[in-house]
Amino acid sequence: MSIATEQPALLGGPKTKGKPFPKWPIHDDGERQAVLDVLESKVWWRTPGTQTLAFEKEFAEFQHCKHGIAITNGTHALEVALLAMGVGPGHEVIVPNYTFVATASSVLCCGAMPVMVDIEADSHNIDPDLVEEAITPRTKAIIAVHMGGQPAQVERLQQIACRHGLDLLEDCAHAHGSEWKGRRVGSFGVAGTFSFQSSKLMTAGEGGCIVTAFDQFERQARSVHDCGRLPGEWFYSHFQYGSNYRMSEFLGAILRVQLRRGEEQTKRRHENGRLLDKLFAEVDGIIPQRIPPEVTRNSHYAYIFNVDLAKFGGISMRKFIEAMNAEGIPNQAAYPPIHALDCFQNGSYRAKLSGDQAKEPHRFLRQPFAETLRAAWESYWVPQYCLLGDQEDMSEIVAAVKKIQASAKQLV
Ligand SMILES: Cc1ncc(COP(=O)(O)O)c(C=O)c1O
Repeated sequence: MSIATEQPALLGGPKTKGKPFPKWPIHDDGERQAVLDVLESKVWWRTPGTQTLAFEKEFAEFQHCKHGIAITNGTHALEVALLAMGVGPGHEVIVPNYTFVATASSVLCCGAMPVMVDIEADSHNIDPDLVEEAITPRTKAIIAVHMGGQPAQVERLQQIACRHGLDLLEDCAHAHGSEWKGRRVGSFGVAGTFSFQSSKLMTAGEGGCIVTAFDQFERQARSVHDCGRLPGEWFYSHFQYGSNYRMSEFLGAILRVQLRRGEEQTKRRHENGRLLDKLFAEVDGIIPQRIPPEVTRNSHYAYIFNVDLAKFGGISMRKFIEAMNAEGIPNQAAYPPIHALDCFQNGSYRAKLSGDQAKEPHRFLRQPFAETLRAAWESYWVPQYCLLGDQEDMSEIVAAVKKIQASAKQLV
């Protein structure tokens, strides 16, 4: 039966996807042994341990950075990095409006105001022109998120940050191993932060890391993450405000093994992403996230594409997602716009601010954010583990889309 006449799986027809996608997380005897070794060593915390220390060094090297500081999770990594940059009450930090809440809530956690700006239509990353427009005398830092693994315009953002005396922080929660002109993300800003939560490109269930090239920043961030201690000083001296953001030895040990697969998995996801670009070029109404020529590797936390629903018989995005899921293609839900989240709309975010900032209107919370809205409500995210499959898996993703397009009238 040809695709054009097949009934969609949502209406009882045959499923497009044959064999299942690879299952995530991936592990083998390496992780099992690593956990057992830590267990038997009786050294379960990082301070006297060897595993987390080794992991942060190895991970920093993987990201082309001098230093790594292992952290409890990606949200805390952002918080520690911002605190180490000196972000505090009265400051503003520019963030993309299209991201996970942690990018903005970490700024509030420091008592500063996240200023949301819209994204570029084609890359889904923060728009550097809008960043420049949003700078005020209160601005202290810019956070760029590498959405779905696709590097933001790091060189332009770095120039803007330099010109205005600001710090650039790269939120690399999606982008382990991604490259801009052959250089890995996290190495362009003052620092980069990573997440090892379960859905991420390497995982220990939870976990995070800060990478940096700067010795002074490393010393400051390491101190903040360890209750304000300083290396080499008496255990009970606390030189500044800090908290306990330390990663345990179990997580460090698992992540060392996960990291060994990082190179091969990143390469595979990137190659499968380019194959999908090629296959989707034949499908009218599918607009994949554009990869600029400077991006030499996208580690693809997700393969993201926008759907022109008019080319799919005018079905709703919800119906498109349901139909894809029924065909056996999973969707990782895209983020809602940050400015529209309850905590910003109901004003509760103000509880984290002080002085004038707690009282004044925040105009940017009511901007139209056209591109963020489009990305949030009209894009499909194929999760990273699907891109660890083979060419047949990629063809089936595209075949499912074509089938839905051909049978869209039945789905309205
Ligand atoms: C862009 C972004 N930043 C930060 C985080 C926070 O990471 P974690 O879940 O490890 O706290 C996430 C997690 O999904 C994320 O997607």
